[in-house]
Amino acid sequence: MREIFQPFVKLLTLMVGLLMTISLLTAFLIGVVIFVFSGGSLPSFKNQSAIQSVAMEAENYRGVAPKEGMWNAPDWSTVEEEANAEDIKYGRELIVNTSNYLGPNGKVKKMSNGMNCQNCHLNAGTAPLGNNYGAVASTYPKVRARSGQMEDIPKRINDCFERSLNGKTLELNSKEMIAMVAYMEWLGKDVAKGEAPKGSGIYELAFLDRAADPIRGKSVYAQNCQSCHMENGEGMMKPDKTGYIYPPLWGEHSYNNGAGLFRMSRFAGYVKTNMPLGASFENPILSDEDSWDVAAYVNSMPRPKKDITKDWPDIAKKPIDHPFGPFADEFSEEQHKFGPFKPIKESKEKTSK
Ligand code: HEC
Ligand code: HEC
Repeated sequence: MREIFQPFVKLLTLMVGLLMTISLLTAFLIGVVIFVFSGGSLPSFKNQSAIQSVAMEAENYRGVAPKEGMWNAPDWSTVEEEANAEDIKYGRELIVNTSNYLGPNGKVKKMSNGMNCQNCHLNAGTAPLGNNYGAVASTYPKVRARSGQMEDIPKRINDCFERSLNGKTLELNSKEMIAMVAYMEWLGKDVAKGEAPKGSGIYELAFLDRAADPIRGKSVYAQNCQSCHMENGEGMMKPDKTGYIYPPLWGEHSYNNGAGLFRMSRFAGYVKTNMPLGASFENPILSDEDSWDVAAYVNSMPRPKKDITKDWPDIAKKPIDHPFGPFADEFSEEQHKFGPFKPIKESKEKTSK
């Protein structure tokens, strides 16, 4: 009798074995799929520098998608086609990591406050409405009312060094100046001369009907800014002290009172479309009121002072929100600093008619 069953027993053992192998294999495959989809990655043979450069691109891009018709920087991968590609690349590096080269411990020269140009000119000066350089090559040289002089790109760069980076000027014929100018000219190479493309520079935020309120701004700051820029406004240094993780908004390492951001409209417009980090023109986080009020709070806090008595030689050309007299109109310094700006604007339009 046994002999009769033996082939069946063998067959059964074989089938059970096969079934177990199949289920083990399936379990293994499911495991791999789950691992990969949950963000894990299998070891790959890609070289390390390729992986790093992809990561850097993602870090620099910050997810800001340009709106239809807005200025867009040329494709970075085409830079190698340029005769001065090395200058352009060094120029970009200086905008991104200014402090490494020209900060308090800069390896080229010690001449500025530790901030990077990119802290204010986001994504190396390419972010739509992130105070980008889209209109620089096309609109300079030009006469600027602040200095009353003809300014070219190097002069304008040095303005930011002396004010926004509360530092000294860079020699005009230095390798660094030549590189930064080369980068800005390359960025603007497709923009028609004289044109300021849509999405370039800083967003022009509508004026409020009231004055901006620093007290209300303090609570906007506590809720939306303090987690990164810190309660004392001084930001957070990298552990190796070569620059900032979160740059300062006031205090001795911040921009001085002659800087663009010290004007309420520049600060409020910048913040509306860029801060807290992750905000954009399409997806702003702060309301207009919050943006103006936080500007009033931050620009009421202590910061370095610059002698700006020679600025705006023609006082009639002072911008509405330039907070230092004398003025060509009857409005107070206080109103020129915090607003309401609409009456000043209207009176200016009347007198210019
Ligand atoms: C603290 C913020 C801040 C930092 C840091 C900063 N800038 Fe600026 N920059 C500004 C503001 C604000 C403006 C004026 C924008 C406006 O008026 O619309 C400006 C304007 C400029 C412009 C003229 C743009 C135009 O379209 O007219 C250039 C060029 C420039 N900066 C270069 C630099 C360079 C180079 C650095 C680094 C060495 C730098 N900036 C660092 C805030 C900053
Ligand atoms: C999640 C962190 C984070 C929050 C929250 C945040 N910021 Fe920033 N902010 C940054 C970083 C990082 C930079 C520099 C960006 C760069 O270098 O690419 C910056 C830059 C700035 C700058 C220009 C550089 C400077 O230091 O002057 C201003 C102005 C600014 N932030 C204002 C604000 C305000 C106002 C708020 C609140 C409404 C805010 N930020 C909230 C991270 C943050």
